[in-house]
Amino acid sequence: MRNLLAALFLTTTILGYAQQKTIDQKVDELLQKMTLEEKIGQLNQYTGDNTVTGPLTINANKQQEIKEGKIGSMLNVIGWKYTRQYQELAMQSRLKIPLLFGLDVIHGYKTTFPLPLAEAASWDLNAMELSARIAATEAAASGIHWTFAPMVDISRDPRWGRVMEGAGEDTYLGSRIAYARVKGFQGNKLGDLNSVMACAKHFAAYGAAVGGRDYNSVDMSDRMLWETYLPPFKATVDAGVATFMNSFNDINGIPATANKYIQRDILKGKWNFQGFVVSDWGSIGEMIAHGYCKDGKEAAEKAVLAGSDMDMESNAYRNHLAQLVNENKVPLSIVDEAVKRILRKKFELGLFDDPYKFCSKERQDKALSNPEHTKAAREVAAKSIVLLKNEKNILPLSKETKTIAFIGPMVKPKRINHGFWAIDLKDIDSTYIVSQWEGLQNKVGKKTKLLYAKGCGILDTDKSGFKEAIEVANQADVVILSIGERFDMSGEAKSRSNIHLPGVQEDLIKELQKTGKPIVILINAGRPLIFNWTADNMPTIVYTWWLGSEAGNAIADVLFGDYNPSGKLPMSFPREEGQIPIYYNHFSTGRPSINEDKVYKSAYIDLPNSPKFPFGYGLSYTTFKYGDLKLSKTKISSNETLEVSMTITNTGKFAGEEVVQLYLQDKFGSVVRPIMELKDFQKIKLEAGESKTLTFSIDNEKLSFYNQVLEFKSEPGEFNLMIGSSSADIRLNSTFELIP
Ligand code: BGC
Repeated sequence: MRNLLAALFLTTTILGYAQQKTIDQKVDELLQKMTLEEKIGQLNQYTGDNTVTGPLTINANKQQEIKEGKIGSMLNVIGWKYTRQYQELAMQSRLKIPLLFGLDVIHGYKTTFPLPLAEAASWDLNAMELSARIAATEAAASGIHWTFAPMVDISRDPRWGRVMEGAGEDTYLGSRIAYARVKGFQGNKLGDLNSVMACAKHFAAYGAAVGGRDYNSVDMSDRMLWETYLPPFKATVDAGVATFMNSFNDINGIPATANKYIQRDILKGKWNFQGFVVSDWGSIGEMIAHGYCKDGKEAAEKAVLAGSDMDMESNAYRNHLAQLVNENKVPLSIVDEAVKRILRKKFELGLFDDPYKFCSKERQDKALSNPEHTKAAREVAAKSIVLLKNEKNILPLSKETKTIAFIGPMVKPKRINHGFWAIDLKDIDSTYIVSQWEGLQNKVGKKTKLLYAKGCGILDTDKSGFKEAIEVANQADVVILSIGERFDMSGEAKSRSNIHLPGVQEDLIKELQKTGKPIVILINAGRPLIFNWTADNMPTIVYTWWLGSEAGNAIADVLFGDYNPSGKLPMSFPREEGQIPIYYNHFSTGRPSINEDKVYKSAYIDLPNSPKFPFGYGLSYTTFKYGDLKLSKTKISSNETLEVSMTITNTGKFAGEEVVQLYLQDKFGSVVRPIMELKDFQKIKLEAGESKTLTFSIDNEKLSFYNQVLEFKSEPGEFNLMIGSSSADIRLNSTFELIP
């Protein structure tokens, strides 16, 4: 048996190698035939005009250039028909090298899923992999080869509008999610008809823009970079990600696009990444505005030397690279290497065998009307909802409730539920999106009367709608109020200096509170918002983010208890903007403010240090008891694994899911360590009254960190182990020692 297995292994390895070699050989053969101009064409990416995702600056005859082999890839060409039309042009070029079609399939294609940040609140890796899988299936059936996702930028700053696109503030959670999303997008293998290439972006540290202002500079220590910002990118490499995108920001003075350390030394060197790197939209040309390059030629030189393989929308490679090669400023081998990386992916996708393999009307129609996708979108959306408060157990609502008033600016519109970064599918109408109103209608029986009032607009200063809202509330047994920030107030270039609930929405809550009716507040947003009065005075608050095309149904599922909420916040919610950046895993200081002691302590005199709602926090309709913590050892050496077990019991009346979170603190280090760090978690479902024993394994990697000379190592000494229901609700504690 052993021999058989060994033989099998050997054969598969040899076969795998042979196949790989074939692709490499094919790439080499093709490269031999290419002129310098054709090579540079492969490195050039232009936008199409089905959607606009950046500032349009290039005025080229794209059709003609494709025929001349001067374009290797297009973005923003959407649907089987248009991708096919463009591909037909590429087939008229001398070497017939197919185009790659890229698109921002960020949280779904037609079927939209919750914003990536919202999905991260589910802490459900299978759910996130599934949503990426479905997005890939729909996109690939519509001619798309490549999604510019996942965004794996860690961010500790909710002013930054792009927090909606990532997985939040935590490196460990972010890395696990990054891995799952890449697996979801890429499926079994590139070339399958339901797989798209994933793209880890934005490399690197884009989420740490100074002041939370998009595209701003980043200044951070190498240790911070390695410890906090790079691991999710590394996780995507481990998952086999096909491409990377660099970022608009500079890192310690060097724009990421021209950053050799980041792209060549770390990504292509240390991590041995075999795919290709695309610039961000215009980021090569923008190095002139950065004051880093005096013109497009210098920008092209610096970017390509630093390892940016494909130029998105700068036209810098197309205009200058040939001259740079001829002047010996850029070695031809550098251009060849970039071209090879791109061609390899085109071969892997099978585009040389059939350039139209992803363009099929039948497959597109079928994929975009698959009821399984709708079902999954509803389930993932329900899992992403976070119950922030349920003090009077107003939730879950009874389906027998006689009259419900559904009030607020978010109740009736449909498209807003997609949130930012939804694909503008022009020939598909929006009827399939389930509004919050429709979700409620679908849920309750005929006997329940539903009343509606808008109350106010999102940004209004006008309170004239309050009267109607109060009248409607007075007639109801329960009021549901859906408020928040506009769907396009988060996303790219959507930084806000003030992240309080906008307009007069909180005033509307205050007026409605006076009716004395039970009120459920739904908050829709793409980031953590600040709503202190509401948080302090309203007993029932549900954070719904933006949940996608099944939002209405998912919200109703949670409100009526058909799904017991299980989401946990992937970012800390600040009390005021002055606390930002705010994150649970901050370093220990020399004067910690214990129990909010402020006397000569690291504290604000006008605010507690703690967030309003902490990382990892979220309620359920049931309760969970943590107990029976056992460690397999109290002392371990670095080649041993510590087994930690505990028992969790559902002590309430409803079946429910809990995310059990394991945190560690290295008590003393050769560099200062965080007060706690998430190192593992498990999401489990328990029936009412049920208990389960969970086991966690702590290996040396979980104990290691980047020391002063950036070696990733553990150090002997004592560790605190904390297991809890959130970063601020630790239920079980212990210590163990790592021995030399
Ligand atoms: C964004 C990228 C996006 C690209 C293409 C840029 O502005 O930063 O995340 O993938 O546009 O749409």
